[in-house]
Amino acid sequence: MKVLVTGGLGYIGSHTCVELSKKYSVVIADNLINSKIEVLERLNSIAHSRVIFEKIDLRNKKEVAFLFEKHGDITGIIHFAALKAVGESVEKPLLYYENNINSLLNILEQVQQLNSEINFIFSSSCTVYGEPLNLPITEEEPIKKAYSPYGETKQICENIISSSSKLNMNLKSISLRYFNPIGAHESAAIGELPLGKPQNLIPYITQTVAGLREELTIFGNDYNTPDGTCIRDYIHVTDLANAHIKAFEYLIEKEFSTNEVFNIGTGKGTSVMEIIKSFQDCTGKKVNYKIGKRREGDVDATFAENNKALDTLSWSPKYSLEQALKSAWNWEKNYRKLNNE
Ligand code: NAD
Ligand code: UFG
Repeated sequence: MKVLVTGGLGYIGSHTCVELSKKYSVVIADNLINSKIEVLERLNSIAHSRVIFEKIDLRNKKEVAFLFEKHGDITGIIHFAALKAVGESVEKPLLYYENNINSLLNILEQVQQLNSEINFIFSSSCTVYGEPLNLPITEEEPIKKAYSPYGETKQICENIISSSSKLNMNLKSISLRYFNPIGAHESAAIGELPLGKPQNLIPYITQTVAGLREELTIFGNDYNTPDGTCIRDYIHVTDLANAHIKAFEYLIEKEFSTNEVFNIGTGKGTSVMEIIKSFQDCTGKKVNYKIGKRREGDVDATFAENNKALDTLSWSPKYSLEQALKSAWNWEKNYRKLNNE
């Protein structure tokens, strides 16, 4: 079976392609707007079968039509391609609406013209819940007004997929609402590769320890949490990658068109301070940090209730937080060719 992976050279996409390649043939469509072509070689060095790459801008209808003409024999699509920087989306909302929504629309337009069944998985985010009313967050948590245009694109895309699935009997779909993916493949051949200054906590930590950044700023220690720093649900990217395989297999087994949502997290919340401590303990490296101001839009705490995915998809996270943090550091060291064990 052939699976189309949009955004497959990105962080989560590349890890998912490695897992997919164990059983499926994989075609990546990516325009490299937030990734590097060198990831393809790195990915193929650990893939179980060679993945094919198509340089396609999904905003471009003609390019998307070409992609589907060439690979009309796909049975699945995992749609990762999107812009994802929350802060940037506030400054450039039109860019985010255009990229994230038009890419999806162009793909679904092609799916509609196929006469075969498509199993479709969408990268959504726990950001769709906004400030949660209840913790842990279940899939029943009400969807509130999004904090950012980025979050709004995730809500809109989920709705578009849901409406399309109702009309198109060939379309079976799942939106996976990721919590905080971290870490890297155990080979350290691929990992998170932010272009420019990292926006997320873990790459900021690893780049600080590697000497690329002077110090980490903790965005606020006056939150309503035991140590005052924000709590998140950090999940190893390989566990997240495997959730896509389980979701895909679940859809294949479904006889009729369906549209479902699942939280993908570990179910455990960890504070920023606890992350720093665990990182130091499991790598033996000191993290230079200072306490700074709150970052706009951050909520006190989010962590998942993941029972629906555990029970329905027969998926469960396998890696510990320490393994995830260690793998992130191994990747940073390997990428920067550091030998300072
Ligand atoms: P990423 O930026 O590393 O990967 C996204 C990939 O999509 C990149 O390779 C980029 O070049 C490509 N892309 C973007 N727009 C494109 C377009 N118009 N045409 C073709 N390719 C395009 O991001 P990631 O961290 O791997 O995230 C993957 C998905 O998961 C995104 O949809 C993101 O919103 C979602 N998500 C990520 C996180 C997270 O913390 N990383 C959390 C929740 C949800
Ligand atoms: N943080 C710092 N310093 C930094 C970076 C982050 O203290 O330099 C803190 C943040 O304030 C937050 C925690 O570390 O409390 C985690 O921050 P990340 O940016 O790594 O992750 P977020 O939870 O803010 O964002 C993630 C995804 C987004 C998604 C969001 C949904 O990256 O795509 O979850 O809640 F929208």
